[in-house]
Order: sequence, then C-alpha cells, then structure tokens
Amino acid sequence: MTCLYRCGNACDHPAPNESDNPYLGDVVSRRGLLRASAAGAIVLGAGVTGAGVSVAEASPAEAAVEPAATAAPGALTFKAIPPNEIDTVIVPNGYDNEVVIRWGDPLFPGAPGLDVDNQTADRQLRQFGYNNDFLAVFPLDKNRALLVSNHEYTNEELMFPGFTSQEALSVEHVRVAMAAHGMSVVELERVGRTGQWRAVTSGRRRYNRRYTMLETPFRFDGPAAGSPLLRTAADPRGISAIGTLNNCSGGLTPWGTALSGEENFNQYFVGGDAVPAALKPTMARYGINTTARYPSGSRRWERAQERFDLAKHPHEAHRFGWIVEIDPHEPHSTPRKHTAMGRFKHEGANVIVARSGHVAAYMGDDERFDYLYKFVSAKRYRPGDRAHNKTLLESGTLYVAKVTGDSPPAEIDGSGRLPSDGLFDGTGRWIKLVSGDRSFVPNMTAAEVLIFARLAGDAVGATKMDRPEDVQPNPHNGRIYAAMTNNSNRGVGSNPGVDEANPRRENKHGQIFEITEDGGDHTAETFTWALPIVCGDPADPSSYFAGYDKSKVSPISCPDNVAFDSTGNLWISTDGNALGSNDGLFATPLEGPERGHLKQFLTVPPGAETCGPFLTADDRSVFVAVQHPGEITGATQDNPASTWPDGDFAKPSVVVTWRSDGGVIGT
Ligand code: FEO
Ligand code: CA
Ligand code: CA
Ligand code: CA
Repeated sequence: MTCLYRCGNACDHPAPNESDNPYLGDVVSRRGLLRASAAGAIVLGAGVTGAGVSVAEASPAEAAVEPAATAAPGALTFKAIPPNEIDTVIVPNGYDNEVVIRWGDPLFPGAPGLDVDNQTADRQLRQFGYNNDFLAVFPLDKNRALLVSNHEYTNEELMFPGFTSQEALSVEHVRVAMAAHGMSVVELERVGRTGQWRAVTSGRRRYNRRYTMLETPFRFDGPAAGSPLLRTAADPRGISAIGTLNNCSGGLTPWGTALSGEENFNQYFVGGDAVPAALKPTMARYGINTTARYPSGSRRWERAQERFDLAKHPHEAHRFGWIVEIDPHEPHSTPRKHTAMGRFKHEGANVIVARSGHVAAYMGDDERFDYLYKFVSAKRYRPGDRAHNKTLLESGTLYVAKVTGDSPPAEIDGSGRLPSDGLFDGTGRWIKLVSGDRSFVPNMTAAEVLIFARLAGDAVGATKMDRPEDVQPNPHNGRIYAAMTNNSNRGVGSNPGVDEANPRRENKHGQIFEITEDGGDHTAETFTWALPIVCGDPADPSSYFAGYDKSKVSPISCPDNVAFDSTGNLWISTDGNALGSNDGLFATPLEGPERGHLKQFLTVPPGAETCGPFLTADDRSVFVAVQHPGEITGATQDNPASTWPDGDFAKPSVVVTWRSDGGVIGT
C-alpha cells in the first residue's frame, strides 16, 4: 500500500535509469583499516516500557540490552529497545513521548478540527496536512520555536470512509488531498522546563502557515527560470508555479530557512502517452508513464486541475522535482524553487558552509540506480546578512558523484563479504555538470542540464547508487553521511551488478555511505568514501557495523533519514523494515571505540516509517514524524490496521521525545 501511494509502485516498473554508464571503473589501491571490536558484556532480559506497554512481553527473546557503561561526553548509554510490532511509539526506559500535532489539527483561529466524514478542501487548508515527513525546529527564544513539516503524500484509502477507488472519489475529495500535500509551519511552546513541546494553535498566530497544492505560488529562480521548458498556459513566462509536491525530506540552512525536496512527482500526472515525441525519453527517465493515458494507480488529479493532464500541459511536469526554500520567519514571503540545484526525485538537501565561505548542498536522487549530487554556491556566506544569504542557492555549480572502489572487483562478490582490505571503501569525483549558465555536458544547454539533471548524470557516467535518500554533513567531523535505503534490483537480471559502493546483490537492507571531502574542503572535487554501516540483522554475515561487536548492536533495515546530535553521534531513522518489525530511530557514535555501536532508540506503530528526525541544539528533545501509520494492504479508514495515536484510526503525527529527568537525550 505504501508503494502504491508514495511512489506509484515504482518498484513494479523497470528502474528508469537505462543509461549504459559504468557503475565502477578503474581500481586504485588504498588500504582500509579494520576496527577492533570493543570489549563488553551483554545483559539479558531487561523489560522496557513505553506508553504502558512492555516490549519484553512482546518479544522477550529480543530484549537484550547492555549496561550503561561509558560516560564520555556524547556517549550513548540509553538501553536499546528491542524490535517489536506494538501499535504505539516505544521509547527507552526513562523517556517520555507525546504527540505534538497530528493530521487535521487546526492551525488557525476558527479552523475546524478533523472530521473525516465531512472533510472539505477549505477545512484541510486550515489544518495540519497528511503524512508528515521532514521536520525542522527553529528556535524563536528559549521557550518558543517554529516547527516546519513536509506533507509528502496522501493515502485516500485511510483518509476517507467508504473509499472504493480514486476514480470514484468526488472532485472535492481530490481537492482535499491536494490541500493535505505541501508543508506546514506551526508555532511551538515548551512545556514547563522539560524537553516537551506542544503546538500553539489558539489565538492569533503570527507564523502558522500552510503551503499547499491548491493555493501557494512558488517563484522559480536560477538559470532555468523562464526557460521555455518551464512555460505553461497558466504561466507563459515560466517563472512561477502553484504548489510544491511530494515533499519528502529537506534540510535547514545556516541562515534560518528550510529546504524541502520534491520527490515522486511523476505519479501525479496522466496523459504522458500524448506528450510530444521529443519529450518522451526525458519524461520516461523521470518515471512518467508515456504509454498509457491513465497509468494504473493514477491519482486522477486532472479531474480537479487540468494542468495534471500532460496531453494538454506537458511542461507542467517540469515545474516539480526541485528543491524549494521557505522562510518560516517571514510568513508572507514567497517560497522559491531553486533551478540551480537541478531537477530530479529530490529526497532533500543539506547545506554546510565551506572554509572559503561558499556553501555546499548535498543531495540524493531517491530511485534505484540513481545518483548523488552536490551544489556549491557561486557567492559566499556572509554571517548575519540574511537577505544576501537567501540568494546563495540561486547560482552556483552542480556536480554529480562518480565513485570507485579500492579493492579488486573480484573480491566484491555480491554476498556482502568484506574484501581483503577489510572495508568497502574507495575514492570519488564530483563531476561538474553546470556552473551558472555554462553547461559542461555535450549537447545540453545549462537549462537542459538543470531540468533534465538525470540525463546529464547519465551522460557523464555518474555512479548508479542503491536509492540515495538523506545526504547530510556532520558538523562535528565534517564528513557527509548518506542513507542508501535499499535496492532489491541490484544485480538482478539485466540490472547493474554489484560494485564496492553498492556491494550486495538484491540489497534489501541498505547501507550508510560516508564521504570525506579531500582536504576537508566542501568545495573539493575529489573525496574518499567508506561504508561504515551495512544494514541488516547483526546475525546476517552481510551486515557490518564499523567492525563493532555485532552481538551488541540492534538490527536495522532501510535507513532513510539521518541527523546528528551536538556531539556528532549519528541518528538514523528507517522506512520499510525488511526484517519484519516496526520501523524506528537508531543512534551510533562515529568516533572512538564505540563507532558502530548502533542501538535502537524508538519504534513507531505498524505500517509507519520514522521520519524527521530532529534533535534540538540543547539535545533535550528529539522530534520524529510518524508517517503513514497503519498503511498496510487491506486496511481502510473504517477498518484500520493501527489506531494510533487516539485509539480510533491512524493519523500521521509529529512526536516529541524527551528524557523524563530533563537530561540529554541518549546519554
Ligand atoms: Fe520519500 Fe526518499 O523517501
Ligand atoms: Ca576496500
Ligand atoms: Ca525519505
Ligand atoms: Ca521515506
């Protein structure tokens, strides 16, 4: 069910990257280091509770936890929670959690609450949207903050009682779905002196805002703005678009704005069979069906707005697939789509200021066999000059990654067995695609490179990765961490085979890809890389946890989003646990003898994925977005597979977790 609604069953279709560019080329020699296992004992049988439910009851054999032994700064001493299938949010002993805001909660004075029998677009426009994904929290002062949330997609089967098919939905219900997409800004206030935060929706709220597919104009900037390929009947100049679509993850900028990635936009269009012949290959490369008028599972949005019919408005598809930037501090500002950062199925974008003052944004294209990208700004960051800094993502250089392993290809056998140098690792290059309005790709203009970035990546031989999700620099060590979530097609049939960066055939569990820019310079064009974590059951020989003793780590599958606490520990949330239990949030140190000691911190209800996550700067609160709870095939609004969080039917919700004693999360 998640596959149908989130990405239009992308895995049932051939991966759209049919380019014949290589996936690993020349082999160079560089020695990797095996990490010694840390010593320590394991203790069995500790009961762990959350919301009054004992995890140990559900899964006693898994209830292995380890003692809180180390106490170095940033040491993660919480007791790992075991895998489980419980219909609530589970956190370790000594922690609390609470819903901050849920689908349908009113955001404005006089706005109605959720009434699933009587939802209208007008109601939904004034309520928190569906399927929260990316989260960011911007402090206003010590006790007030702004929450930014994406609303990636809708699931009409779980939203509307009596749902039978998309075709049978009323046009008003289609408009409700459009209003439930997009983003929200919500004021938060701290509860007492704790790490708990709650949404403030009563009284006049200065900052609360919805960005939706029905109402919100976005302005294009950068070299492709105004391109003929962006022009439509509604916007003959090609400089603005209504709405943002399928917003997955995102990132915060150093100047206090939020970035958001438009991901699986292809599934919202019909009529791809009737686009001009010259556009069919580019449409197909982005997963748009170019053979059927109504692809199976179509959302049929063209019934509410004609622009979703590509037979009539083929360029409308070019107006999605971008990184958007919103300013939560300026609720009346016009949000923007940055064409300089390229168009693909953006997971998100995360920015760091390089030593030179230029900013680098790291980005993943979430599709099997697609690419990693980097954008480097033309201009330099100016501390405190917000107006200037808000222009930094409008011009710069877009690169795509080509990576090479350092072990003999014969040692990468697809089983996940480590090569003889003890590490999946190697070197890489950022290949320049476009800089300002200068293209570096033969036979493509700068605008074409940006609008069809996937084809530009094909042309220069970028490396086909195992679905790049979140790609985020760790401010603590300057390295970049990318979640490669999975790729069940790797090495299957005519699909690309394994390579050292994507080393497992039929990769069900994914891996973490760690990049070290040469010289620690985020504008560098060369880097080294390694896989510190190859996910899976620790008992599975193909899993790897930076050489840490696997008897002490938690099982993890399908990493999606990453975050860092203030001491640089890596937090990973998952989507689609192929090990069969609920998705969750995990944490591991990245430095010292504890590197790779991964432990599960939280689980979400069945059918849900864990999004966000976001740790506040004081490390006292961790927010997660519980997306698509109860999204299990066969479930409906009337017959839900989850009743979280209110005991009636499942509602996507944002949750905050804090330590009951007010202490630092994880320690
Ligand atoms: Fe929407 Fe890439 O997950
Ligand atoms: Ca190697
Ligand atoms: Ca994601
Ligand atoms: Ca996801």
